[in-house]
Amino acid sequence: MKKTLILSGVEVANHFYNSVPERIQSLLNKNIKPGLAVILIGSNPASKIYVRKKSEKFKDLGIHSETFSLPEKIQQNELLELIDSLNKDSRFTGILLQLPLPKHLDSNYLLNKIDPKKDVDGFHPENMGLLFSGNPRYIPCTPKGIIKILEYYNIITEQLHSVVIGRSNIVGKPIASLLSSRSDKGNSTVTICHSKTSNLSYFTQQADILIAAVGIPQKIKANMVKKSAIIIDVGINRDKNGKIVGDVDIDSVIDKVGAITPVPGGVGPMTIAMLVENTIESAEKLL
Ligand code: GUN
Repeated sequence: MKKTLILSGVEVANHFYNSVPERIQSLLNKNIKPGLAVILIGSNPASKIYVRKKSEKFKDLGIHSETFSLPEKIQQNELLELIDSLNKDSRFTGILLQLPLPKHLDSNYLLNKIDPKKDVDGFHPENMGLLFSGNPRYIPCTPKGIIKILEYYNIITEQLHSVVIGRSNIVGKPIASLLSSRSDKGNSTVTICHSKTSNLSYFTQQADILIAAVGIPQKIKANMVKKSAIIIDVGINRDKNGKIVGDVDIDSVIDKVGAITPVPGGVGPMTIAMLVENTIESAEKLL
C-alpha cells in the first residue's frame, strides 16, 4: 500500500527561511529596514502563545519587531491613538492587531484604521477587496501558508474539488478565493461548509482537497474523507489530556488519505513564516 505523505510545514517554512537573509540584506543595502508592530490586548492564552512565537521567530531572524501589550479594558479611542501613531512610525513597515479582541472592541472598525499598506495580515477591507478581485496586495498568512505547502509538494489544484470547512475572514473565505482563482495555484472547484452546514460528511466525502478550519478537536474521522484525499488541518486545539491536536483525527484518517498536514508541525509554522514574508514584502513595497 502507498504510504501517506506527511506535508511538513516545518520543512516548507525552513525552505522559505533560507531565502530571508538575502532579501533582508538587499533591503538594508537600500537603507530600508523591515519592522513589525504587534498589538496584543488582554490575556487570551492562545493569543499570547502566538504572539510569543512570532516575536521569537523575528528575533531569530534579526528582524525588528515590538509587541504592544495592552490591558483587557482598554478603550477603543486609546487603541485608535496607538494605531494612528504606528501608521506614522517609519520603524514599522507592518502592523498586526492580534485577534480575537475583547467583546467591547469592534474589530472590523479597528482593522479598517490600520494603514492598508502596513496591513501584513491582509484583513483591511481594501486588502480583502484586492484579494477577492484577483489582485492581492497582502495574502493573509494562514491561507498563503497553505498555498505554499501545496506548491512545495507539487500538488496541482486545477480540476480538483476543494472543500473548505470554515468561513472566517482569517482562513475560510481567503483560502476559498485563492483555490478558486484563475491561476496555476487555483483553478480548483470550491465548496465552503460551516457550522450551519447540514450533513457535513456528504460534502467532506467528496473532497479531493479538504481544508479543515472547524475549531473542534479531531472532528474529522475516516468515514468523512475520500480515499487518497489531501488533508490540510488548520486546527490547533487541546484534547481532554491537554495535548495539542488538530481538527482532523489523524490516527483515524492516516491509512485512508493520500497526504496530510500534521498538528503540530503543519499549517502553524507556515502562518508564522508567511507573517515574516509579508513583513519583508511590506518593506519591499517601499523600494
Ligand atoms: N488570530 C488567529 N490567527 C490570526 C492571524 O493570522 N492574525 C491575527 N492578527 N490574529 C489571529
